[in-house]
Amino acid sequence: MRLFVTSKLQCDKDFLDNYKNKEDIRLSSQIRVAILGATGAVGTELIELLEARQFPVADLKLLASPRSAGRTLSFQGESLPVEPVSEEAFKDVDLVLASAGGSTSKAWAAKATEAGAVVVDNSSAFRLDPNVPLVVPEVNPEAAASHCGIIANPNCTTILMAMAVAPLHQVQPIKRLVVATYQSASGAGAKAMEEVKAQARAILNEQTPPTESFPYPLAFNVFPHNSPWNEQGYCEEEMKMVSETRKIFDVPDLRVSATCVRVPVLRAHSETVNLEFETPFTVEQAKEVLAEAPGVKLVEDWQGNYFPMPIDATGCDDVLVGRIRSDISHPCGLELWLSGDQIRKGAALNAVQIAELLVKDNLIRPSASVVSV
Ligand code: A2P
Repeated sequence: MRLFVTSKLQCDKDFLDNYKNKEDIRLSSQIRVAILGATGAVGTELIELLEARQFPVADLKLLASPRSAGRTLSFQGESLPVEPVSEEAFKDVDLVLASAGGSTSKAWAAKATEAGAVVVDNSSAFRLDPNVPLVVPEVNPEAAASHCGIIANPNCTTILMAMAVAPLHQVQPIKRLVVATYQSASGAGAKAMEEVKAQARAILNEQTPPTESFPYPLAFNVFPHNSPWNEQGYCEEEMKMVSETRKIFDVPDLRVSATCVRVPVLRAHSETVNLEFETPFTVEQAKEVLAEAPGVKLVEDWQGNYFPMPIDATGCDDVLVGRIRSDISHPCGLELWLSGDQIRKGAALNAVQIAELLVKDNLIRPSASVVSV
């Protein structure tokens, strides 16, 4: 019998029981999906991606806060109502794609799994829970098989960095990683993106810019990420990059340091990454590896001074990587620069890819969508 959940994990017993007699069943290709946070920046992208990638959706429920009641959103040419999230809403749902913030996920994920659904959660709520796999499908797809009902999507900056670093790390393990991020407004949600546009208009009209999503105007400005600091002076966003990279790479003591900065870009984050290896990793070798890496696009035109830019990464599935240089300060160091769409590969696309992985490997619970063979 094939067990779909590893017994070493302290999984929810009912959920495990759901999997115990699966050898004589197979999932039909039709999955009943709910999107929690459907009206947000990531939620609307999830809807588009499910359609564009022809995810086998039997039924789609769009869930958000009571503020969105009465709204409709389009999916496969149909206008679907947005419902306020409730316990009832998870009935007859196989898969929940959640992107409504950590507190909303904490409030609803258990209710969804109790109702029998698998949750792919885009928030930080469960990422470091040892019973919750943290998955970038191109990097650690095998981790998904150990899920107990919830699978976490890593932080956007971590996903983008992992996509560029993992292929190199597989050739020669990294010893130390130092990253600086240039994060767009989209990371703070749809409202923040609108706020930056309003700020730009206000500043150009010599008016006071509105500041609700951010503590300061972001238009025409740059500031360190405004998540809370720890006693060492690292903010939450920076520590997410440290802890999540260690978990995804399965190297608990990997030396990682991050500086996260918000920049006045609407969508798509950029990062500068300094890697230290045991022995030199040549630029040529790194380019060869990255040129072959799935989900990565090497973008370098030294003569034309053209490298990855958020404007080119926007709407793009691949993470753009370039400006690969030997670190002049260290014989075993390598520098690289990347831009990636924060909403796509940094969030919605990665979540849909996890869902595709679950379907491919029959890791979604048996339900009415299951047929006997
Ligand atoms: P709503 O539009 O009804 O507020 P973004 O990341 O772009 O800010 O989007 C956040 C998403 O999470 C939106 O769909 C938002 O719905 C949803 N959301 C926020 N708070 C809650 C909540 N308490 N319950 C359910 N959905 C929520």
